[in-house]
Amino acid sequence: MWHDRRILDLFDIEQPILLAPMAGSGGAELAIAVSEAGGLGALPCAMLSPEQIRTEVGIIRQRTNGPLNLNFFCHRPPKPDAAREEAWRNRLSSYYAEYSIDSGAIPAGVGRNPFNEETCEIVEEQRPEIVSFHFGLPKESLLERVRATGAKVIASATTVAEARWLAEHGCDAIIAQGAEAGGHRGIFLEEDFSTQPGTMALVPQVVDAVEVPVIAAGGICDARGIAAAFMLGAAAVQIGTAYLQSPEALTGPAHREALTNARDDRTVLTNVFTGRPARGLINRIVREVGPVSADAPAFPLATAAVMPLRKAAEGMGSGDFSPLWAGQAAPLARPMPAAHLTRELAEEAQVLLGR
Ligand SMILES: Cc1cc2nc3c(=O)[nH]c(=O)nc-3n(C[C@H](O)[C@H](O)[C@H](O)COP(=O)(O)O)c2cc1C
Repeated sequence: MWHDRRILDLFDIEQPILLAPMAGSGGAELAIAVSEAGGLGALPCAMLSPEQIRTEVGIIRQRTNGPLNLNFFCHRPPKPDAAREEAWRNRLSSYYAEYSIDSGAIPAGVGRNPFNEETCEIVEEQRPEIVSFHFGLPKESLLERVRATGAKVIASATTVAEARWLAEHGCDAIIAQGAEAGGHRGIFLEEDFSTQPGTMALVPQVVDAVEVPVIAAGGICDARGIAAAFMLGAAAVQIGTAYLQSPEALTGPAHREALTNARDDRTVLTNVFTGRPARGLINRIVREVGPVSADAPAFPLATAAVMPLRKAAEGMGSGDFSPLWAGQAAPLARPMPAAHLTRELAEEAQVLLGR
């Protein structure tokens, strides 16, 4: 039995373990597995077309009765900047030559979609029990429509100020994302990510600052991390990296291989893959072009120019140009089926917390 039932009751789940939505790495199978173990399954929608979202939700609804978290990015799409785009392609030109890629033939692309009219309609039609946002919240008119469906709304905060802002804008719970977290920082009130607190410092300060329940995220890969999060006042945890090696995850071979060799001191925040800071394992492009490049176009426009390099390298079995997203606790992850992992983590954390 969990002493703190706030998130369990809010979401109607049995275990306070939320699968982190992981665009590109998590689909229906991972969501179903975590849901079946009593946690909260999530479907990341940022890299899916409307049709793909509908298909994935359909599969999840067929296979589990558990509640579902649909996750969206809500960045403001930047104005394309031709000079910066050119500087970025120039910065990558030696790699294009190495892989015989014609840089003139690389299409510009957005890479990741923000929540908009079309995705809002999907929420209205599919009625997920929970909708989560990364990079702030969508404009009020869209948010109102999400709320009108009855969905609980949650979002990531990387600082106390962001947590307060999200609470003031009506979030039902706040995800406190510490600097250890794998993948993109949810940062949205400012640009400077160098001053961002880690999970241990952030969670209790957010707990003190807002009335709504707090979900701890970042660097939680085993039961000790879950128990610690509860001791800091969190009512649930959101876990990403620990699930990346599960067979149900969509994690590619190069990423899986890198995760097997992960070390505590081998991840970094980098903007070279998308234009926004995200934590991943250091590989060739991060080492040579980043970790932070002033040439990288604004999120998500940096993505398109790197994509052909990634494809070419992966085709040769190399992760040199792949985003190897991972949090700082990656070595603690136990590769196993996601339902099994969720049950083990919940059981062990309850023992540590003395039930
Ligand atoms: C591979 C990967 C992809 C991610 N993609 C998303 C995403 O699409 N939406 C989102 O809200 N968070 C995303 N995140 C961040 C997670 O929600 C969460 O903050 C993070 O995984 C927690 O830290 P941990 O990885 O140490 O468990 C991603 C994280 C990873 C590792």
